[in-house]
Amino acid sequence: MTNFWSKLNKPIIALAPMAGITDSSFRIVCKQFGADVLYTEMVSAAGLTFEGAKTLRYLKHKKKERPVVLQLFGSNPKQFAVAAKKVEKAGFSGIDINFGCPAKKVVQNQSGCTLMDNLDNAYNIIKATCDATSLPVSIKLRRSKGKTTASMLIEKVKDLPIKAIMIHGRSFEQAFAGDPEWDEIIKVRKIYKGILLANGGIYSPEDAKKVLAITGADGIGLAQGVWGSPWLFKQVKDYLKKDKYTNLNWKQIKKVILKHAKLSVKDKDNLIELRKHLLWYVKGHKQAKELKKELIHITTLKDIKSILKKY
Ligand SMILES: Cc1cc2nc3c(=O)[nH]c(=O)nc-3n(C[C@H](O)[C@H](O)[C@H](O)COP(=O)(O)O)c2cc1C
Repeated sequence: MTNFWSKLNKPIIALAPMAGITDSSFRIVCKQFGADVLYTEMVSAAGLTFEGAKTLRYLKHKKKERPVVLQLFGSNPKQFAVAAKKVEKAGFSGIDINFGCPAKKVVQNQSGCTLMDNLDNAYNIIKATCDATSLPVSIKLRRSKGKTTASMLIEKVKDLPIKAIMIHGRSFEQAFAGDPEWDEIIKVRKIYKGILLANGGIYSPEDAKKVLAITGADGIGLAQGVWGSPWLFKQVKDYLKKDKYTNLNWKQIKKVILKHAKLSVKDKDNLIELRKHLLWYVKGHKQAKELKKELIHITTLKDIKSILKKY
């Protein structure tokens, strides 16, 4: 299987994985605004191994999303091997391994960021995955957890054929808020020659430019910054190329909302998960309060259309 990572133009602007957010419909919207790589929500390696009906649904994606990377979380190397084969068969472009999630239910199962405390198991998981698939394998981790830093983990696993690394510049203890620190990404840049992506707190084109300059990374991962503004991908690219970018007006935003909603209707049996996106999309509108009050109750595409018509 080809390593798509090596074919991408730099800087790579990726949609970082977000549970409950980066589903197929949102991924497609982001791709249309220029996202170079799309990460899925995290998917349980155990769930794929035992073919849980809910978990299997995460394998659904569209060809036009490619390159699209499915992210696995778990703690058992054997399950990663089984899951990796299923992900490859489903047609994904790559597999990412989650070493950064601080959520209680993930950490309690010795998965996610807890793996930064257990470097031997981290190694075994990456090796089992690489051995089981010909897809490019990438990893995503945090700046640090307790005394373990990103560079310590990378030192441990650097002989494995990892094709890309995304580092979230916040520690486990910081969770999702506060300022990221880039020192560990700079350190990893020196010991790892593959594709390196910086992530954390990049909410504007100016942030993107600054982080790329500070870290020397090959690209960035956007996460909370694209909530309600998937066009940030285009703005970042415009700014890096031409030093300027434009904002969308309300008419253009309404078009994006409808596109996203239509994709969601095709993809899912209800629009409950879309509601939070709708509230994010209308954040800057002068009647945001009224809009939100109505949008929070939508159940059909027709509901959305009739609300948007009024504003
Ligand atoms: C709601 C939410 C869900 C997330 N889910 C995942 C996930 O499934 N896998 C993962 O590696 N990181 C996940 N993250 C972390 C993001 O990918 C990213 O590393 C983090 O939000 C920092 O970037 P930001 O400051 O640009 O948001 C999640 C973050 C949020 C806010």
